[in-house]
Amino acid sequence: MAPNNEGQAEGSTTLFKSIKQQLHLDNEQLKQVMGTMQSEMVEGLCRSDSTSSLGMLPSYVSSVPCGDERGCYLALDLGGTNFRVLLIKILDETNDSKKCRVEMANQIFSLPESIIQGDSEGFFGYIAECIAMFCEEHGLMDSYLPVGFTFSFPLEQRGLNQGVLLTWTKGFDVSGVKGQDVVQLLTAAINKRGDMNCEVVAIVNDTVGTMMSCALTEPHCKIGLIVGTGCNACYMEKLSNVHMVDGEHGDMCINMELGGFGDNGVLDEIRTEFDKAVDSDSLNPDCHLFEKMISGMYLGELVRLILCKLTKEGAIFNGEGSKKLFTPGMFKTAYVSEIEYKSVDDKLHGNILIRNILQELGLTPDDADCEAVHNVCHLVSKRAAHLCAAGVAAVALKVKENHDTESMKVTVGVDGTVYRKHPTFSKLMSQKVEELCDGTGVSIDFVLSHDGSGKGAALVAAAMSEKVC
Ligand code: BGC
Repeated sequence: MAPNNEGQAEGSTTLFKSIKQQLHLDNEQLKQVMGTMQSEMVEGLCRSDSTSSLGMLPSYVSSVPCGDERGCYLALDLGGTNFRVLLIKILDETNDSKKCRVEMANQIFSLPESIIQGDSEGFFGYIAECIAMFCEEHGLMDSYLPVGFTFSFPLEQRGLNQGVLLTWTKGFDVSGVKGQDVVQLLTAAINKRGDMNCEVVAIVNDTVGTMMSCALTEPHCKIGLIVGTGCNACYMEKLSNVHMVDGEHGDMCINMELGGFGDNGVLDEIRTEFDKAVDSDSLNPDCHLFEKMISGMYLGELVRLILCKLTKEGAIFNGEGSKKLFTPGMFKTAYVSEIEYKSVDDKLHGNILIRNILQELGLTPDDADCEAVHNVCHLVSKRAAHLCAAGVAAVALKVKENHDTESMKVTVGVDGTVYRKHPTFSKLMSQKVEELCDGTGVSIDFVLSHDGSGKGAALVAAAMSEKVC
């Protein structure tokens, strides 16, 4: 950063301060976010026509796995950058038939933009073709296979194997699917091929799969969390509190669609000009505003927009940007992770690596610019982690309230690229959760869920079908 004169230097400092202020959320603000979220949860559970921005969608999964699920299943994982098909065998543990062990084989298929932004027939035809390629490869074309379908978008479910798409998120925009039952669409595409013998017996959100697979080994697991391309949570709710579903006894897992929090304006006070710009340039404006402050699909873009503003105001890069810096989507969230990682311990070395990334973007940074870019990445990451912490704390308090107890240990099964790969996110989030829950009697544990989207869907499918292996 080489300001031309003192006035400009002062202006830069003021601009940095203002950006810092906008992105910083103190505990009081975070507790307000929690309070609002708790009211919206209750409101969302009560009425299907509620004004709550939380979907609070019943999943029809009514218990965590009991451990005696066995069999061979196909699991489909759709909702991130790629599509995955998995063959999952749930078997007796060697020497202990009361416990199970899971064997998996999987194949990853890319999802070209032409497919995820094309039409329904092309989309489901492609998905069915990927499944057929997998079955062919594994000699499964003639075997009957129950399918657990992890479909990571908001679905209104009327049963475990029915789900009407409410809206697309995360850069997907396939025409002709909104308002339709995606199980029926996929089944039609599979039947049209006529070369496979599989049946979708359960459709689950990725948060639900994550919670289920974690609960297999963690008895206190009552919450599932994803912080990846998108952001969402689910939790076990008392059925008597879920007014959209009949029944008074037992529990039901609720897909909160946490990413949609704020879509009714309740977060407007803390949304910045950068959040608004990310939203208005997205494929789904006014939708999933909380997700757009937290998840991997948007963190890089938030950083880019802030850097653009700092550049235009002459506060960094000597006021000179580059074509890439000014192009949407060019500052990847992976850069944010790399920059955070590389600056953690070794400042000097860190600056060299930050410089390399910035040079790739066609910029010519000095040390002060590298430092500034690191600060922006950190502020954006910290705010995301703290907002996510407020979400988790609010849900955990609701779980405790349902159990009517003084103190409670809640385990959160968690997955997603931001949680796994960002170097500071998980720590910042768990520290903040601890602060926000201090004195409430709730203690929260995060457990990384291994392959929840695959294993979890198979576990739900297992609960639904006969043992087939
Ligand atoms: C979707 C959720 C999903 C989350 C994480 C969001 O965009 O609406 O259903 O769980 O992403 O994948």
